[in-house]
Amino acid sequence: MNGNKSKNPGHIREIEVYFMNTPQGTIEIAPGVHWVGVKHHNRRLFDGLIPLPYGTSYNAYLVLGKEKTALIDTVNPGFEQELVEKISQHIDPSKIDYVVMNHAEPDHAHACKHMIDLAKDAKLVASAKGKEAAMMYFDIPAERIMVVDESTKLDLGGKTLSFVDAPWLHWPETIFTYLEEDRILFPCDFFGSHVALGEFYAHELGNDKSLDMAKLYFAEIMMPFRRQGAAAVEKVKRIDPGMIAPSHGVIWKDPKVILDPYAKWTTEQMEKKVMIAYVSMWGSTEKMVKALTEELVKRNIPVNVFDLPVTDIGHVAKELIDTPVVVVGGPTVLNLIHPSAAYATLLVKQLRAPTKYVALLTSHGWSGGAVKFVSSLIEGMKVEVLDAIDVKGPPKQAEFDRIAQLADKIAEKLK
Ligand code: FEO
Repeated sequence: MNGNKSKNPGHIREIEVYFMNTPQGTIEIAPGVHWVGVKHHNRRLFDGLIPLPYGTSYNAYLVLGKEKTALIDTVNPGFEQELVEKISQHIDPSKIDYVVMNHAEPDHAHACKHMIDLAKDAKLVASAKGKEAAMMYFDIPAERIMVVDESTKLDLGGKTLSFVDAPWLHWPETIFTYLEEDRILFPCDFFGSHVALGEFYAHELGNDKSLDMAKLYFAEIMMPFRRQGAAAVEKVKRIDPGMIAPSHGVIWKDPKVILDPYAKWTTEQMEKKVMIAYVSMWGSTEKMVKALTEELVKRNIPVNVFDLPVTDIGHVAKELIDTPVVVVGGPTVLNLIHPSAAYATLLVKQLRAPTKYVALLTSHGWSGGAVKFVSSLIEGMKVEVLDAIDVKGPPKQAEFDRIAQLADKIAEKLK
């Protein structure tokens, strides 16, 4: 870690200081294996949805065998030249033999075409589905693509690449690449994190902070694919890599640090806790939220409360990984529910969160509609609705009594 890190707690300032101190060159993660990626410090949004408080990185890796050279994954559109310059520090980029495309999403694969055009004899290495994607998205000619599966071995001369099928992590074509002699797994997005600070390794950033960022990433990208993720974790455990080098964020020199949490996150190991995500306009919903929070605390149940309009939605997603009870609160607006509460409800549904129990706290002035609308939003979800409390005006004793009963129900479910 850089010694002159800013003391300013504001992350924007922190990033500026890191940016100035971050090495912009390449690093050798093992003999003949070089990180040649890009740290996109000032990117603030991914997929038009995911906030990136610490930016993100596109980690590409150059593997130099005695006879052949492979580039594993590439970079986001706009960074092709930076990638080429970094590769040039080690070899002539036109001499690359293989460009491995673990995953076809453009943040890692868009520059594959640029590299294939530059290295005229190179093959793009991909799964069968990856080949289709490379042709569709990047116009890579079929004859330039080598399809690999779990039986394939690419001998680079003293360095052997093998491949792991990892479909739906998080697109259908995904594979992992394994460098056998150095025991390095390159799993692309899996085990990744959106962070572009100065550190390259998890232990340098701090394992706790690295895991926090990885959990955020898991929630936003991998949570809907838990079943496939659990299968991949088992495969990775059998491979027993000595290092895990994903294509976003920090590299895990001690794979156990990230493998154990992933084993937990992918198998729905819940904690005894409740999340309340709410928005309030004139305080009625907030009074109900406070009352429920107090009732839960009285029952020794941890509760995480998020005021939606001032919350990074990623933190809500992160809590969903291991929170069995989700309570949404929001006032009725124009016969529906406040859009922030609707958004949070949709997030639970779209991320296929492992939520077991839900409840709704809502209020209205003259006509209701929020309960009906939220019921339609959660249609198809495998959740048990514990209660939907809809109060006219501010909550009164009858509603507070019902909130206490809801807390009892939650306590019973969490036993
Ligand atoms: Fe980082 Fe799914 O691409």
